[in-house]
Amino acid sequence: SMITLRQLLDHAAEHGYAVPAFNINNMEQGLAVMQAAQATRSPVILQASRGARAYANDLVLAGLIEGLARAFPDIPLCMHLDHGNGMETCATAIQNGFTSVMMDGSLKADGTTPADYAYNADITRRVTEMAHACGVSVEGELGVLGSLETGMGDQEDGHGATEKLGHDQLLTDPAEAEQFVKDTGVDALAIAMGTSHGAYKFTRKPDGAILAMHVIEEIHKRLPNTHLVMHGSSSVPEDLQEIINNYGGDIRPTWGVPVEEIQRGIRSGVRKVNIDTDNRLAMTAAIRKTLTEDPSEFDPRKYLKPAMQMMAQVCKDRFEAFGTAGQA
Ligand code: G3H
Ligand code: 13P
Ligand code: NA
Ligand code: ZN
Repeated sequence: SMITLRQLLDHAAEHGYAVPAFNINNMEQGLAVMQAAQATRSPVILQASRGARAYANDLVLAGLIEGLARAFPDIPLCMHLDHGNGMETCATAIQNGFTSVMMDGSLKADGTTPADYAYNADITRRVTEMAHACGVSVEGELGVLGSLETGMGDQEDGHGATEKLGHDQLLTDPAEAEQFVKDTGVDALAIAMGTSHGAYKFTRKPDGAILAMHVIEEIHKRLPNTHLVMHGSSSVPEDLQEIINNYGGDIRPTWGVPVEEIQRGIRSGVRKVNIDTDNRLAMTAAIRKTLTEDPSEFDPRKYLKPAMQMMAQVCKDRFEAFGTAGQA
């Protein structure tokens, strides 16, 4: 059944676990997440970006999610807007039945220009007032996602900051975080500590110099009752990179966020962990493998079913690792 992010994350905080938030764009991704949730008895967050809403058609996507909730009635399900960029996007998501929205005011509405505190706090507070009046939860973001190695944002993916950023922008300031939660009333706060979106996060296995998990610990000390959110939290598994590359793909050597670092975050108030890239890699790995092994195949179900299975396995692994399994 559909519940809000606030309800879901309050339970997670009480029981000391986190919920992975998986991005979906289509039926296969939605089914893969729900099958994994059912198999592990996990509550779930399905999130859709503005790009997903445009890709799938807003109303079709809304209908899909409603269908998934009805098909898996025992699984608590939060339908969340990922990286909303303004009042209008958040309002239409709420009209379409989303039970939670992210207002990402860390960037201006263009999605590339870093915003100042006043802009972010003002737009986030206004979205929160509207959403709460509708019984919908809100996630805000303070700090800009990007690489501590290069100072660059997520241009690789076609979104994120496009100017070179300093550590003061790439790492959320704990005192400012405390003020932001007070000023906006958000239910959950996304913070920046060195992760970025997409497959190319780190050029080596990350240590404290390029993945600043201590920032989370400092923020949690000041805001013990605020649900923290980690974006850019795919682990970019080596085995999936390998399958893709073995079947004609070209993924350059790269590192993601190790699962044990996320587990460290969960011990310090992280309750929502955003994952998209790992599932993209899983589906692509399975499709490349299936089509290479049988080039005569042309029934989409024959390669989409293994793609769903490989994605569901990633989801199950995360539900187990984050303590979500068994909580539904
Ligand atoms: O914010 C990043 C998510 O991975 C969604 O990506 O905007 O390409 O749908 P997208
Ligand atoms: P990844 O690209 O690491 O999967 O991050 C997804 C995300 O943060 C969506 O908001
Ligand atoms: Na989000
Ligand atoms: Zn994100």
